[in-house]
Amino acid sequence: MGLDFTQEILRLKRERNAVILAHYYQDSQLQDLADVLGDSLALAQAAKKTTADVVVFCGVHFMAETAKILNPDRTVVIPDLDAGCSLAASCPAPLLRAWKEEHPDFAVVSYINCTAEVKALSDIICTSSNAEKVVRSIPKDRPILFCPDRNLGQWLIRKTGRAMELWKGACHVHEAFSTERIIALKLEHPDALFICHPECEEPVRFHADSIGSTTSLLNFAIESKAKKFIVGTEPGIIHQMRKKAPDKIFIPAPGQDESCNCSECPYMKLNTLEKTYLALRDLTPRIELDEALRQKALVPLERMLACA
Ligand code: 13P
Ligand code: SF4
Repeated sequence: MGLDFTQEILRLKRERNAVILAHYYQDSQLQDLADVLGDSLALAQAAKKTTADVVVFCGVHFMAETAKILNPDRTVVIPDLDAGCSLAASCPAPLLRAWKEEHPDFAVVSYINCTAEVKALSDIICTSSNAEKVVRSIPKDRPILFCPDRNLGQWLIRKTGRAMELWKGACHVHEAFSTERIIALKLEHPDALFICHPECEEPVRFHADSIGSTTSLLNFAIESKAKKFIVGTEPGIIHQMRKKAPDKIFIPAPGQDESCNCSECPYMKLNTLEKTYLALRDLTPRIELDEALRQKALVPLERMLACA
């Protein structure tokens, strides 16, 4: 008989005084094992508070890196080191540095989906949960460079009325939704509400009844009187929606390509139960950071945590 990974993970977790932090886009088995399950903001807050010796981060690299920035003396492991993020990859730090140099008076607001190097070049970090609050915290007379997500940036311009220069990055998962097919699905299910993440493109957001972070979409679905929802974000969140609102119906929003599961984040899905067990057993792959870089990246992150 093979190993029972769930039991082994629970045993090793106690043995190592470890905590498992998991994002809503993880496989349901990993979500169910997590000590803290949440969106990027909740997970950063949990990482800041933890007293565990080991943090096992079931999410993507920038999230685990954020946990390490906040916990230099704790061991931070991620089940699969290749769990990257197309959005974070769309903003290399040297290009951001050059953009900053062209705009010396601007405040740099960076979405947490970015590398530690990009964080270190930023004035303040935000997540999709607190982006509006963070942007409003910048004095009105200070112009803003926003990176790396152009869709979240456009949404913030609409919400706050603030003019911002936007980096042209995007998440390939959230840009894969099809407006035409969402409209067709709405016509097929006139009783359904369409909810989506602000990383979706504007034509998709235009049809949304609610837009927000994964946590805010989950709460909306739980609290709404509606019984049916078309969900425009990574479908991992639907596991929680079904758990928290078992009497409701959740339909994943369709992508442009009928033949692929393009709305599944391929990076998030690299983490598995077996890899999580191995990460706990071997305490690798570890997130390591240069101390000078960590200290620089910590400043805008702490500003965000103080503001959120
Ligand atoms: P949240 O801030 O909702 O967790 O979003 C994270 C993310 O990567 C969305 O693609
Ligand atoms: Fe990055 Fe998009 Fe995956 Fe979120 S869903 S982790 S933004 S690639």
